[in-house]
Amino acid sequence: LHYEGGTLTLPVFTGTEGERTIELKTLLGSTGMTTLDPGFGNTASCSSKITYIDGAAGILRYRGYPIQDLAVGSSFLEVAYLVIYGELPEPGQLKEFSDKLRENADIPDDMGTFIDAMPRNGHPMSLVASAVNTLAAYYDDSVDPDDENQVELATIRLMAKLPTIAARIYRNSIGEQPIAPDPSLDYVENFTRMTFGDARPDGELGELFGKAVDLLLILHADHELNCSTATVRVVGSSQADIFASIASGVNALSGPSHGGANQAVLEMLDEIRDSGVSIEDFLERVKNREVRLMGFGHRVYKNFDPRSKEIKGLATQILDRDDNPDELFELALKLEAAALADSYFTERKLYPNVDFYTGVIYRAMGFPTNMFTVLFALGRLPGWIAHYREQLHDPAFRIARPRQHYIGANERRYPG
Ligand code: MLT
Repeated sequence: LHYEGGTLTLPVFTGTEGERTIELKTLLGSTGMTTLDPGFGNTASCSSKITYIDGAAGILRYRGYPIQDLAVGSSFLEVAYLVIYGELPEPGQLKEFSDKLRENADIPDDMGTFIDAMPRNGHPMSLVASAVNTLAAYYDDSVDPDDENQVELATIRLMAKLPTIAARIYRNSIGEQPIAPDPSLDYVENFTRMTFGDARPDGELGELFGKAVDLLLILHADHELNCSTATVRVVGSSQADIFASIASGVNALSGPSHGGANQAVLEMLDEIRDSGVSIEDFLERVKNREVRLMGFGHRVYKNFDPRSKEIKGLATQILDRDDNPDELFELALKLEAAALADSYFTERKLYPNVDFYTGVIYRAMGFPTNMFTVLFALGRLPGWIAHYREQLHDPAFRIARPRQHYIGANERRYPG
C-alpha cells in the first residue's frame, strides 16, 4: 500500500496494461465496503458509542461494561437505562425511570380494541410491529425527531407499553382476557403477570423464572449493527418517527435468520428427538450440508458468543434440576458437546450463539414457540431506542443511501 497526499493506493496487475495503481477507496467501493469512502457516508457503517464487540476474543460490552458483569450485578431496567442514556443510573434516577414506566404502561382503550381485532392466530411479531407502528397515531405529541422532549416521551412510552402490547397479543392468541398492567409490580414481574396471570410458577421456581426473564432481556439489550438495528437506523435516517423506525426493527427481527433463530433451534431439537436420529448421524448430515446446525456460528463471533455462556448457565439452573429435568436441554447439551469435540466445527469457528439455549428456556417457562422472537424484541428495545437517539445527535447524520453495485445488462435496444 502507498500513502501519499491523503490517498491510499494499491498496486494491481491488469492483463494488457501490466502494473498500475488503484485508489483503495475505489477498490473497496466496488466490493460494497464503503467505509473508507466519505462520499458514501451513513450507508452501511456508522460510528457508535453504545456496544463494543470483539468477535475474535468473544467480548461484548454495553457502554464499556462487560456483559458478564452486567448480567450478575444489574437488573434489566438498569441496563436499559445504561444503554439508552449512557450511564448506569443512580438510585434516584432508576426510581424516576421505573416510576415513569409504571405510569405509562397502560395503552389507550381504542388501541386495545384495535389489537383485539387483529387475527388471533397471526404471528405475534406481525401483530407487535403493527401495534408499535400505530403508537405514532395514538401519541402524535411524541413523533417529532427534532424535539428532544418528544423523543424522550416516546422513549418512555415505547419502553412502558411494549410489554403490555406483547402480553395482550399473547393472551388473545390463547383466547384469554387481557390483564391490565399493575403499577405496584416491577417491569419484568409486570410483564410475566400480564402474560401468564396466576399461572406463573411460585416459590423458588417462580423467583428463578423472574430472574431468568430479566437476564435474558439484559443479554439481548443491544448487539451493535445487526440487521434490525441497522434497519432502525436506516428508517430513522429519513426523519421517520421513532415508532415507525422501531416497528421496522421489529419486522427485521422477525426473520428466521435473525430473531427467529431460537425458534428454529427448538424445532431442530424437536426433530432430532422425534426422528430418533443419533447425534452423530445428525452432525454427519450437517457436514454433508443436508441439514443446518441451528444456533451455531455467528457473523461476528469467531469464538464463543459470550451471551451463550451466560444463557447456558441459566438454563442449567432452571432445567438441570432433579425435580424438573428437561429432555430438550439434555439433548442440546449433548449436541453442543459432540459438535465442539469435532474439528469440523471448531476449525470453522462454529460455536454456540445466543439462540442455542434460549428456546429451551422459554419453552420450559411456558412461552409458546412463536412468542420467542417477541421476547427478543422486548430485550432489544433499549438498543433500538439508543441507536435511533444516537443517530439524531450524530453531526455526520444524513439520510441513508446504501451504494448499489450494478451488475445488470448494458443499454439494450427497445423492441419495436
Ligand atoms: C443479535 O443479537 O442481534 C444477533 O446475534 C444477530 C447479530 O448480531 O447480527
